[in-house]
Amino acid sequence: MKVSVKTPATIANLGPGFDSFGLALPLYNIISVEETVLPGSGIEINIINEKNNENGIGDVPTDKTNIVYKAIELLYNFIGQVPAELKITIKTQIPISRGLGSSSSVIVGGLIAANELLGRPADEKVLMSIATEIEGHPDNITPAFKGGMTMASWEDDGSVIYKKLPWNDEWKFMVCIPDYELNTEISRSVLPKEVPLKDAVFNLKRSAMFIDALYTKDEKMLNFALKDKLHQPYREKLVPGLSDIINNLKHTNGVIGTVLCGAGPSILIIYNGIGVGEIKEIVTNTWNYFNVKTNFLNLPLEKEGASIII
Ligand code: HSE
Repeated sequence: MKVSVKTPATIANLGPGFDSFGLALPLYNIISVEETVLPGSGIEINIINEKNNENGIGDVPTDKTNIVYKAIELLYNFIGQVPAELKITIKTQIPISRGLGSSSSVIVGGLIAANELLGRPADEKVLMSIATEIEGHPDNITPAFKGGMTMASWEDDGSVIYKKLPWNDEWKFMVCIPDYELNTEISRSVLPKEVPLKDAVFNLKRSAMFIDALYTKDEKMLNFALKDKLHQPYREKLVPGLSDIINNLKHTNGVIGTVLCGAGPSILIIYNGIGVGEIKEIVTNTWNYFNVKTNFLNLPLEKEGASIII
């Protein structure tokens, strides 16, 4: 038996909600898991880059150190077993190491597929908690799992508390994907262990504004909210041009806010549907100055999370 799961790309943080807010995008990885019939055939992992594009699949391992396998192994351990013969196939459309949640997507997909194969021994709570243990970021895992706009917290007991938030469909996303990769570990290594109290308070207020703006569809409030002092300023050195792009777009018609996608290096522009040409020109010109080329994706919110496909 073989089970395939389609899982969306995600963007975490969204400015003020470092490690908390996230959203899903209609760009997918498909993860298939099957128990092979030949005893002793062991674990086989295949990665197929569907778009065969320049983003490649990097040096993603295809042995037991692969994160999808590690997540599935934890699920098997949860029911007191170890995986013996398994074939895992990952078809990728989501660029890796660009801040678009490619690892969350494959972990969530692999877990849901394996859980289905095993007769659904684990509920959503267990799957979310295993996925977050392997990936480390509930702000990516939650929208990959559930779709939409989400807030999530990874609690000390390993559980994930989450809520789906409303979204005004008049607000659009433009994802600017640069032509280089940035590893999340490296991007986290530049963050300080402690932050000034005033910066924490700054983000606290903006997170509250963000939630309010979503519930009241208040564009001006969302514009106030889409700011950050906890991670973006520190990551600027790894994403040259980030603050210039944010500043250059500040007064551009249509732009509601500009933030880093997760740990970077992609940049997300939230806008109200107008000014696409001007926005692209500003980003292209600003990044050109830093010798960075960009690929643009205009995408709506993906409201559905991971789903089993035939
Ligand atoms: N919230 C995490 C970070 C997302 O910014 O490091 C990592 O994908």
